[in-house]
Amino acid sequence: MEKNQLYYGDNLTVLREHIKDESVDLIYLDPPFNSRQDYNVLFAERDGARSASQIMAFEDTWEWNMDAERAYEEIVERGGRVSDAMRAFRTFLGHSDMMAYLAMMAPRLIELHRVLKETGSIYLHCDPTASHYLKMLMDAVFTPQYFRNEITWKRSHAHSDSKQGRKAYGNVADTLLYYAKGDGYVFNTVFVPYEQAYIDKYYRYRDADGRRYWLDNLTGPGGASKGNPLYEVMGVSRYWRYSKVKMSELIAAGRVVQNKPGNVPQYKRYLDEMPGVPLQNIWADIDPINMMAKERLGYPTQKPEVLLERVIRVSSNDGATVLDPFCGCGTAISVAQRLNRRWIGIDITHLAIGLIKTRLADAFGDSVRETYEVIGEPVDLPGAEKLAEEDKYQFQWWALSLAGARPLEKKKGADQGIDGRLYFHDEAKGGETKQIIFSVKAGHLMATHVRDLRGVIEREKAEIGVLISMELPTKPMKREAAEAGFYQPPGTTDKFPRLQILSIAELLEGKKVDYPHYAADATFKKAPKSRKAAEEQIPLGGGEIEEPF
Ligand SMILES: C[S@@+](CC[C@H](N)C(=O)[O-])C[C@H]1O[C@@H](n2cnc3c(N)ncnc32)[C@H](O)[C@@H]1O
Repeated sequence: MEKNQLYYGDNLTVLREHIKDESVDLIYLDPPFNSRQDYNVLFAERDGARSASQIMAFEDTWEWNMDAERAYEEIVERGGRVSDAMRAFRTFLGHSDMMAYLAMMAPRLIELHRVLKETGSIYLHCDPTASHYLKMLMDAVFTPQYFRNEITWKRSHAHSDSKQGRKAYGNVADTLLYYAKGDGYVFNTVFVPYEQAYIDKYYRYRDADGRRYWLDNLTGPGGASKGNPLYEVMGVSRYWRYSKVKMSELIAAGRVVQNKPGNVPQYKRYLDEMPGVPLQNIWADIDPINMMAKERLGYPTQKPEVLLERVIRVSSNDGATVLDPFCGCGTAISVAQRLNRRWIGIDITHLAIGLIKTRLADAFGDSVRETYEVIGEPVDLPGAEKLAEEDKYQFQWWALSLAGARPLEKKKGADQGIDGRLYFHDEAKGGETKQIIFSVKAGHLMATHVRDLRGVIEREKAEIGVLISMELPTKPMKREAAEAGFYQPPGTTDKFPRLQILSIAELLEGKKVDYPHYAADATFKKAPKSRKAAEEQIPLGGGEIEEPF
């Protein structure tokens, strides 16, 4: 079987170069929203508390520039509906940041339409900042005919910024724009429990044993014109919903009730036999990921697994291929893996790709790595050198993820000389959290780098320091590293070099940092082990509430 795929890169390029026409069953995309805000990544801190750390995951800001102009012209020159929509937007929005955002989204939506199967569906997750424009763009790409729903997800309970002078209603909802590509799309109806007020209003009768029921109409809607049979039941002649034979079965089963002689008999519909209400387009039953949530990984825009579980179960079946072209820390991917779907994920930062790898391993075990390939990451030294040349931070994130460390971006104050950290525990429960500090050198490696790191280890009182270098260390550098001595975990005779130099080539060959692995390391907030049990039971293939017989 083909492996699942995780791509590092710009999704427009990846879609154009790697993803075949009509090869995907379901697309979920959660692009940046043009919210004019830089998202900060939060990681589990050393003491287990979380605080805002300094890494900028991606800049959620768009500006009108040459790239936007080029993207716009390319779309307009193609002609057709999308071109018309974009020209109309331009008249209205000019060269604004919103226009730049739409010019970024338009070619991607066109590619997503191309890769979706005729039976496929797409969910675009957005918020009120851009949802109205995006809906028009989606109409242009997928046609209004295949617009299915605008889903409102109530993602938080209330905002309390009125005290800060805000004069508007709190924004507590995100929007999911749901479109199908054609008529034969998959839709597995979800039923949710009735609200108590509804139960109290309609299911107000009880049997002696307390079973609640509702007296429902038994006459056939449309009467004779709809072919309903006319006959007499309990002395009342009507056009009935069921044949005479079926009616006799219902009467024999005690399901037909006549309140008073002469009244029209009614059907006894038990509450406990009903599947619930088919899910509507307002979703208020899925909580956001709160600060204490087990699944929280520290990625700023992480979405709850239950939300993705709902989307994937409703709009795809076992074995279907799910694509998330803005996959972040991999919520859609992890849920697709758990639900036995195949998946393709794309993200433009190594931070996201590194987190996804860790998340999958934590949730499904190390063997999950055999089931997917990572495309676009450096696989050899020249590739690593190219990445370092293109973008220093991407290189650092990637190199640190090879060593299982978390990145640390801003070098100010106490963090001087540190690019990443890795925490570990080597004492019984309750013991101190120990740290390994990392320094990454993409350029020419010098003896001072080794000496400096030795100083930083002392200053930070770190147990171990690791220098990740593109170049191989010279003999004097190795000697200098050896002079730093060993770290010895309390109560053991084990010894671990206090200063380790790992070259990129060694890391690519699978060499690891040498440190005590007595307990699970505490660097990243771990993804919980995947649950088997489904949160929501969805009768597959249904679509209608079943009639009683
Ligand atoms: C809102 S986040 C997605 C969060 C995700 N749903 C989750 O649960 O973690 C958007 C992601 O899109 C990525 N991104 C932005 N522009 C991109 C592009 N052109 N190609 C691929 N990924 C991109 C960002 O790096 C970021 O991780």
